[in-house]
Amino acid sequence: MSVTKAIFPVAGLGTRFLPATKAQPKEMLPVVDKPLIQYAVEEAYAAGIREMIFVTGRHKRPIEDHFDMTFELELALDQAGKRDLLDVVRSVKPEDMECIYVRQSQALGLGHAVLCGKRLVGNNPFAVLLADDLMVGTPPVLKQMVEQYAEWQASILAVQEVPADHTRRYGIVAGKAVNERIVDITQMVEKPAPEAAPSRLGVAGRYILTPGVFREIESQPRGVGGEIQLTDGIASLLRREKVFAYRYEGKRYDCGSKEGFLEANVELALAHPTLGPGFRDFLRGLEL
Ligand code: UTP
Repeated sequence: MSVTKAIFPVAGLGTRFLPATKAQPKEMLPVVDKPLIQYAVEEAYAAGIREMIFVTGRHKRPIEDHFDMTFELELALDQAGKRDLLDVVRSVKPEDMECIYVRQSQALGLGHAVLCGKRLVGNNPFAVLLADDLMVGTPPVLKQMVEQYAEWQASILAVQEVPADHTRRYGIVAGKAVNERIVDITQMVEKPAPEAAPSRLGVAGRYILTPGVFREIESQPRGVGGEIQLTDGIASLLRREKVFAYRYEGKRYDCGSKEGFLEANVELALAHPTLGPGFRDFLRGLEL
């Protein structure tokens, strides 16, 4: 079975990024010239996924509008002969891509948000992308994972080595190495203290999951922070199915934090084909 559907949980409160996230979802914050959610959707599209399921919260409108047709804008650009900009606007939602919205009425946690997509996913494997983790990789990280899924036909979690004093920020997994990049997971813990962490392999915001995970999330009590945790659902799935960790090739920016967001803006601006050279000169001229 191939992966054709992706869930984008975008209903979090984004408290680490206040006040910017007071009246808009953090997934609409732009890095250079694109909102975070567009990077994630493009990554899913590049991985062959065409059905995008957004789990939205109280700030539903900006995301829906972003992936909708903007008739007046397109007409104005067309009449002004601005073809390049018209192409930029139209490419946000390719014609063969479907966008579906479901509402998470209360932010009860990531596990609960994923569960909101259950009926739309049905009995299919699916991807979960957390857009505040901006991933840069060649090939794109989710594409690497879809290729791994084709081989293993089991859930795959993107992981990276994290510093020992950062384990409290991640779901941490441990298990048996199958090859250089794949680990057969035997244990998974949400945000452990460094001394309780079974390894330093932290889960990044990209998952491919089998539909069996829904039943496991449903049977979870509230976990860390009183939330229904996706990690707890996956930890429970481990008892029934194989789950693999995949050490992705690429770089992750934690754009849910102000530091990670600033780093992403600087590095992506430097790599930008037209803005990059001028921005590099600007940075060189700063007295630091
Ligand atoms: P975070 O753990 O980053 O939480 O969620 P948050 O509330 O968005 O941000 P902070 O920590 O308060 O700053 C990880 C992802 O899960 C989504 C978020 O939108 C984000 O993409 N999420 C989280 C939901 O969709 N619903 C929830 O109930 C919780």
